[in-house]
Amino acid sequence: MKRRSFIKAGMRTMAMTAMASVLPLPSHASGVRRYAITAAPAVQHLGPADRPATSLWLYDGISPGPMIAAQRGEELEIEFLNKLDVPTTMHWHGIRNLNEMDGVPDLTQAAIEPGESFTYRFPLRDAGTFWYHAHNKGWEQLARGLYGPLVVHDGDAAAGTRDITLVADDWRLDDTYQLHEDSFESLMDWSHQGRLGNWLTVNGATDPEIAVASGPVRLRLINAANARTLAFRLGTGAPMRIVALDGAPCIPFDADSIRIASAQRVDIIADFGRGVTLLEEISTGDAISAARLVGAPDDAASSPAPAAQTGDTTPWYVRPDIAGARVIDIHMQGGAMGNLESAMFEGEMLPLRQLAQEHSKLWAFNGAIGGYDHMLADLALGEVAVLRVRNDTRWEHAMHLHGHHFWVTSREFGEAGRDVLRDTYLMAPGETADLVFVADNPGLWLFHCHMMEHHAAGMGGVISIS
Ligand code: C2O
Ligand code: CU
Repeated sequence: MKRRSFIKAGMRTMAMTAMASVLPLPSHASGVRRYAITAAPAVQHLGPADRPATSLWLYDGISPGPMIAAQRGEELEIEFLNKLDVPTTMHWHGIRNLNEMDGVPDLTQAAIEPGESFTYRFPLRDAGTFWYHAHNKGWEQLARGLYGPLVVHDGDAAAGTRDITLVADDWRLDDTYQLHEDSFESLMDWSHQGRLGNWLTVNGATDPEIAVASGPVRLRLINAANARTLAFRLGTGAPMRIVALDGAPCIPFDADSIRIASAQRVDIIADFGRGVTLLEEISTGDAISAARLVGAPDDAASSPAPAAQTGDTTPWYVRPDIAGARVIDIHMQGGAMGNLESAMFEGEMLPLRQLAQEHSKLWAFNGAIGGYDHMLADLALGEVAVLRVRNDTRWEHAMHLHGHHFWVTSREFGEAGRDVLRDTYLMAPGETADLVFVADNPGLWLFHCHMMEHHAAGMGGVISIS
């Protein structure tokens, strides 16, 4: 009797330990939020209304794609139909997803062929600012417009003109306002910063007017550009209070301007009066107006800011102790002016010149050109892992891990370093960073540079967790 209950208790303890190492499902799961989304060719005025519309590939015919909004704890179900002429998939960037719903072709699912549909269904464990985008030939499919916002709310958080999502993109347009298609596979772009655009939009329009409540407003900024790191400030010079990075709450801090790399999100709280406040983009050194935030004309339009507005600062999980953690060294090399002379590609050691000219490959992890079959590590479920990433190139890179958020002592906000939880980290040339995470989500997960051209040209690999 005694022994039996001891064994039972022991088993219960074991079961609990095993449970603690896997990503828990929301405890208050309730309901399914359903969307149907179609990808198809469509046109939209990215430039002024009296200029030609641009031919794009869009979700539901609009750029950005439709806002997908849900509550934490709900399940999201998206019935996706591919009306493009090419295969595609949808990836839910930043969601700590079920592996089979992650949308990586040839790794987590077969690409969805033209005319075919696929139903994505997964639980929403975390509230925050996310986005979705195509994940097949992203360098082309994102540049053509296949992305949209995904916002998961928590309880009675602010809404309406107190909670604004701004999706920014830089497009490369020719003088008839069409996408510059000849440069899609430009080796010049692929070996340098990636495809940089020449036309900035916010929510699919040039310098749009956006109504904001007076008083504190949450702005959710999403960078959907292929490669450009955007930088924003408020034209009034007013401080922006940063409350979340890549969806995850952070300890709030103030900044006069903020850089946002490809795929990153930053949630800020700013105070608006009744006039117009410019949101300025300053990455090129010249301030241009990205959007005009128009304050509510009278106080009646603005309800008092709910407490949730200031943001929940509780991290999704605390920074794990790295004593005894698995350290995975990742040496990044390649690109223009780099030190990569040759690399392994499909079982052969090839000189960089040949890799570039014959295969459009230019970047490597640990001496090998990356791809969906390039294994970086095999982790046990629940293990603490450190991706020790060394940027041995002359370029910045936006390093993204699928299925997890990692802790990093970020140098993005100043040399002092700031501990933040994020899913995409912008690394400076020469920097070494530890991306620390609990491998609590089983499956095959990509780790890659989110500058789409760098990823396509070899900067990516896979982490297996089981
Ligand atoms: Cu935004 Cu591999 O993804
Ligand atoms: Cu890169």
